[in-house]
Amino acid sequence: MTTSAPTYQSGFGNEFATEALPGALPAGRNSPQRAPYGLYAEQLSGTAFTAPRARNRRSWLYRIRPAAVHHPFEPLEGARGNGRLLSVFDAVPAPPNQLRWDPLPIPEAPVDFLDGMITMAGNGGPETQTGCGIHLYAANRDMAGRFFYDADGELLIVPQQGRLRLATEFGVLEVEPQEIAVIPRGVRFRVELPDGAARGYVCENYGAPFQLPDLGPIGSNGLANPRDFLTPTAWYEDVEGDFELVAKFLGKLWSARIGHSPLDVVAWHGNDAPYKYDLRRFNTIGSISFDHPDPSIFLVLQSPSDTAGVDNVDFVIFPPRWLVQEETFRPPWFHRNVASEFMGLIVGVYDAKEEGFLPGGASLHNCMSGHGPDAETFAKATAADTGKPQRIADTMAFMIETRAVIRPTRHALETAQLQHEYYRCWQGLERRFDPTRR
Ligand SMILES: [Fe+2]
Repeated sequence: MTTSAPTYQSGFGNEFATEALPGALPAGRNSPQRAPYGLYAEQLSGTAFTAPRARNRRSWLYRIRPAAVHHPFEPLEGARGNGRLLSVFDAVPAPPNQLRWDPLPIPEAPVDFLDGMITMAGNGGPETQTGCGIHLYAANRDMAGRFFYDADGELLIVPQQGRLRLATEFGVLEVEPQEIAVIPRGVRFRVELPDGAARGYVCENYGAPFQLPDLGPIGSNGLANPRDFLTPTAWYEDVEGDFELVAKFLGKLWSARIGHSPLDVVAWHGNDAPYKYDLRRFNTIGSISFDHPDPSIFLVLQSPSDTAGVDNVDFVIFPPRWLVQEETFRPPWFHRNVASEFMGLIVGVYDAKEEGFLPGGASLHNCMSGHGPDAETFAKATAADTGKPQRIADTMAFMIETRAVIRPTRHALETAQLQHEYYRCWQGLERRFDPTRR
């Protein structure tokens, strides 16, 4: 168990520079002939070397041993092994149905974060570096003597129950529900559970790293403000033992023996590093006259694609806010989108579905699948007095929205958590048309 209190530095994508021992960061050279304290210099690049400067991500790590020092990887077999985490999404046909799931139960047997992850859906894949995998996790014990890195994608972790303590090569991040953490592709880490039981969501982004969206006519402030993103300061452990390093590589889990903790980076500088963000800091913007802006107004982070304006993955939230639009149907309207939407609920109630969509649960509304408020929400919203502002206080929902269709896995379609009666929530929307009454 990691015990040191995490410390952070603020900003998004900054060129951070941090050292756990004074003078551990070499001055003036990234790879000096002899690094201070007998450390090894190692670069981690998160984008192509020649990516434009504004999108270029790389860090220099000064560590006790290089990342290359470990035994060969073997496929991780058995109950803990391959089968739960998938990056191939064509095993079963993707139905155009609206889908919704109850929360994943907290396991009774001891399960750590890595073993407690299971893939619900995804698109694209690590080979083409497009799309994302969408996983749930439910766990109840620390990762002990084992470390993980994901070569396939960046991990956006959304805790729903229980805090996570993420001990990474770059330092320690502590996140609680309503905060998120992002671990860049390839960064090694261990997950500890200070509260015991933990549950949440993971978006494994195979594409370009998440970035803050441009703000256009919103101006220079608003949505997620850069200074609210927190990156750990350098922290290391100098520990030897018989440990396991698990890699996710091309959709499979691989296990290698390693004789030391790979969390041995004494100093680092650069902008490819883990970070966390408190969703309650989001500056929510909306209509103050009538109608709704598109949900892109709730965009926290985006993974751009090769096509301008069309993202690989958008991470969007629906936080507490005031609704003030006059003579407007205030909940999200009925809609069909070219984008595909996987949603989760962290706390409270989602304003388009007051029942059935539970904290820890999930829903999937795919490309061109009609959806929107249920019959009860529709009835309430059409009768509401829109001369008065309304506060949505108790809520924090999020959406992983992708350009490509999100394909549910066999597990997602066969699990006991699938709500087979979900379609009924719209069956009460009766014919209201009367050609004689305008
Ligand atoms: Fe939607």
